[in-house]
Amino acid sequence: MSNTEALMTRRADAVANGVATRGIYAARAENAELWDVDGKRFIDFAAGIAVNNTGHRHPKVMAAVAEQAEAFTHTCFHVAPYEGYISLAERLNAATPGDFAKKTMMVTTGAEAVENAVKMARAYTGRSGVIAFSGAFHGRTLMGMALCGKVNPYKKAFGAMPPEVLHAPFPNAFHGVSVEQSLAVLDNMLKSSIDPERVAAMIIEPVQGEGGFNIAPPEFLKAIRALCDEHGIVLIADEVQAGIARTGKMFAFDHAGVAADLVTMAKGLAGGFPLSAVTGRAEIVDAAPAGGIGGTYAGNPLAVAAAHAVLDVIDEEKLCDRATEIGEKINARLTDIAARQGMEAIGDVRGLGAMVAFELVTDRETNAPDAALTMAIVAEAEKRGLIILPCGTRGNAVRLLPPLTVPADQLDEALDILEASIEASINAKGA
Ligand SMILES: Cc1ncc(COP(=O)(O)O)c(C=O)c1O
Repeated sequence: MSNTEALMTRRADAVANGVATRGIYAARAENAELWDVDGKRFIDFAAGIAVNNTGHRHPKVMAAVAEQAEAFTHTCFHVAPYEGYISLAERLNAATPGDFAKKTMMVTTGAEAVENAVKMARAYTGRSGVIAFSGAFHGRTLMGMALCGKVNPYKKAFGAMPPEVLHAPFPNAFHGVSVEQSLAVLDNMLKSSIDPERVAAMIIEPVQGEGGFNIAPPEFLKAIRALCDEHGIVLIADEVQAGIARTGKMFAFDHAGVAADLVTMAKGLAGGFPLSAVTGRAEIVDAAPAGGIGGTYAGNPLAVAAAHAVLDVIDEEKLCDRATEIGEKINARLTDIAARQGMEAIGDVRGLGAMVAFELVTDRETNAPDAALTMAIVAEAEKRGLIILPCGTRGNAVRLLPPLTVPADQLDEALDILEASIEASINAKGA
């Protein structure tokens, strides 16, 4: 029995079934490479689901964490605050879109950041409704799952959702939902389903992550900004997956040239250490009463030290530019593959910076999803030493999230493996 098989057996006996896992059991990882417990090497284009934007164990991140560990690892910010948290808040206030006074609070996970953003919006407006979008993913806590725009598996089996959470269609040109249609539904919703004066917040991912790397057109983000202004609704940008240099700018909202009132971030923020944050308009962030937000581990000193190093590395290694270059390279290669005869199963290639996905369809007329082919490609790539992830509300998109520090030769190697995996899977299907 291999080490992997032994761990799979123990995992099945000891770990909750609801925690879905792949069959890659990690032993160690370095930058864009990961080795499993049987010594097999992978190029990691999952990056811990968009977390290791600065690669696994970036030396500067590791050094910052080691230095902080020598001083203290936990005091609880509520009990004995520390400078690193304050200076990170200052940096995030400056880095997020919007030329207005901002403040920041930190927590640990993306879902917690979303929960806290909604709490702030409710406290500020005195309203309770929240509008989210179809295909959205905002986390697995109670409000987070209610905001998700996909029932199975996120809301299935978990009882009643909080009231006054509504979903509008996310614009999706590939699947025939135009910006105008989406805005018309929103308009109708505010006339027929909920009084805009009951809506505290509207939350949107500028590029949907789990939902399939669907990109919100800039004109749509501008239009919902105007709608929120008109009705006094707090606009929340969920940048948990798209933020922190991933799309070629620090935040994906930067591409649209508009600012949300609150920004949630996590994942790439601390290079593999658990940290999330909500940054936004000072008066909204400050609406939550003292003691009403925070938590024992919120803004952990080791993770805060890591985040400072991550922000330095993004700057020093020009990772926003690198994200754009990586994205262009992946996009060009996939577009080329999709144009070839026999590759009609690739219905769409899309991306913003180094957040690129392709969608698998049974035919290009109907764009009907091919989830089985998607899983076959993911499995084939894994066999050949490349970790990639499926996504999409229909389970038929493959997303690529390379570390932005991936060496050029490993990027080429990964794309060769990807191409071979796509070809082999499509050929096997046709056979
Ligand atoms: C856009 C978005 N929001 C929130 C979350 C939840 O983050 P976490 O899993 O850290 O709770 C995710 C996680 O994938 C995400 O992609």
